[in-house]
Amino acid sequence: MIIDVDVLVLGSGIAGLSFALRASELGRVALVTKKSDTESNTNYAQGGIAAVMDPNDTFKSHIRDTHVAGAFICHNDAVEILVEEGPDRVRELIEFGARFTRSSSSPEPSRLDLGREGGHSARRIVHAADLTGREIERALVSQVKRNPDIRVFEHDHAIDLITEQVGDTTICHGAHVLDSETGDVMSFRAKVTMLATGGLSRVYLHTTNPEIATGDGVAMAYRAGAVIANMEFIQFHPTTLYVKNPEPGARQFLISEAVRGEGGILRLKSGETFMEKYHQMACLAPRDVVARAIDSELKKSGDECVYLDVTHLDPEMIKGHFPHIYENCLAAGIDITKEWIPIVPAAHYACGGVVVDTNGCTSIKNLYACGEVSCTGVHGANRLASNSLLEAIVFARRAFKDAANRFKSIPETDIDEYPSGRHVKDVDLVRIEELIFRLQNVMWKYVGIVRTNERLAKALAEIKDIRRQAKELYASGKLSARLLELRNMALVSELIVLSAQWREESRGLHYNLDYLELDDANFKRDTILVKNRQNLPEMTPDYV
Ligand code: FAD
Ligand code: SIN
Repeated sequence: MIIDVDVLVLGSGIAGLSFALRASELGRVALVTKKSDTESNTNYAQGGIAAVMDPNDTFKSHIRDTHVAGAFICHNDAVEILVEEGPDRVRELIEFGARFTRSSSSPEPSRLDLGREGGHSARRIVHAADLTGREIERALVSQVKRNPDIRVFEHDHAIDLITEQVGDTTICHGAHVLDSETGDVMSFRAKVTMLATGGLSRVYLHTTNPEIATGDGVAMAYRAGAVIANMEFIQFHPTTLYVKNPEPGARQFLISEAVRGEGGILRLKSGETFMEKYHQMACLAPRDVVARAIDSELKKSGDECVYLDVTHLDPEMIKGHFPHIYENCLAAGIDITKEWIPIVPAAHYACGGVVVDTNGCTSIKNLYACGEVSCTGVHGANRLASNSLLEAIVFARRAFKDAANRFKSIPETDIDEYPSGRHVKDVDLVRIEELIFRLQNVMWKYVGIVRTNERLAKALAEIKDIRRQAKELYASGKLSARLLELRNMALVSELIVLSAQWREESRGLHYNLDYLELDDANFKRDTILVKNRQNLPEMTPDYV
């Protein structure tokens, strides 16, 4: 079945929703999302959105903090845009109905309460208590539901982009989408396609991300020939609640960095503090430094977790600022106003992704990307806390402006339906789950916070085998959401490892014991991957 629309948006997180709302000015919008409308990384965001909203804060300082966290490979043009356009986009979110926490100490009732997080030299985190993402999703989804030009397709899973090759140019005409409930495939034909499918941290065994984060967007774009970058820079959040025997597949509960921003202290089991040994900002050091410090202390002590201590802080402040964290820890048997919180790092965010310019354009014509799936250049080797939601709203608007300027000149085109006929064999779902579990273990053990050449080589061999099996299953097997996810997770894992192998230095989130130093002469640049193209000047990792 072919479905004709003007604009196709894949993903209903902050990036997809905010783009769809604007794009409805262009015509009929289909917003396709693989679970229910609010299920996304956005929905679980706690800390907030970084933006210069305080008159005493400066763009210069936010720009500098972003570059420092990013280990000096952030793209300055993109960082300036992010920071300078950020405050207006936050105000627009408020106009869309998002209710952020107001300052109780300010004489002006409308003044926003600004939190602090690691790597920031000022208070600039706009938040809705510790449920910022849920509030943003609520506001944006309710706007989308009221918009007659946007049709939402829930539980529909994008399989692949529809592209055409004209000379050297690849053009996108939409996407094939599996209806996960009926097993039918719909082919959406669109003039403009926005890839807003979010992150990929589910390729790791332990992650803060919900089930949707399986790297589908990067995998689809890569298969279509788009330029991908910086896949080795996976951010591990230092503080997630340690649970002794977690349920298989459970999401690690995040303890927001904002808790350290308000004075939370990291301690070893003995009570000793340790962060001052690793960084002058101690517990408020950038996230890569804190995660590595914890990893190193755990390896030295053999303990299963370290602790975050907020027992010295005002209990009413804790309950007021962090009600969700307080309640969740209480449900796990920990009263954080009286007891230390046991914590461990977990995979959290992908800094790399589908390369876009400052208008959200990918290397494929009429295909835009926005949010965590994209690589705008703002995060470099390590994202500064709370710059992700900001990136999504800033670049969604820029992508809309670009699409609006070009929209009338984009011609109608014919597309073929998806060749469903070959997917006939029954697929053993247990085998799919086993392969996914094996992949997640390999990524966690060998491609984690601390890497070595040997571990990366082991990972690659395992992943290639998993990928071979995934390809076989996909070639003739009946399509299901999990089969598509396995196919995508195996591919993006391979891209992560190849990128990590190429970068023979330690920078930001990529830390390799075999190359402990920064090597600016050779590696102060992005890691570029393009399918079937070996000799791009900047590209060195083997193509897949
Ligand atoms: P998402 O919000 O993840 O949305 C992706 C959408 O794409 C989902 O709707 C998904 O179902 C859909 N999708 C995926 N694949 C397909 C497919 N094949 N077909 C159809 N649909 C598909 N960042 C901050 O800046 N501040 C914070 O405080 C913060 N806290 C965080 C806390 C947690 C626990 C987590 C996990 C992340 C946090 N982040 C934070 C990161 C931030 O939330 C995400 O990077 C951001 O929300 C990504 O938005 P997005 O719209 O790009 O993707
Ligand atoms: C957090 O609240 O610690 C998450 C912030 C982020 O990921 O940017």
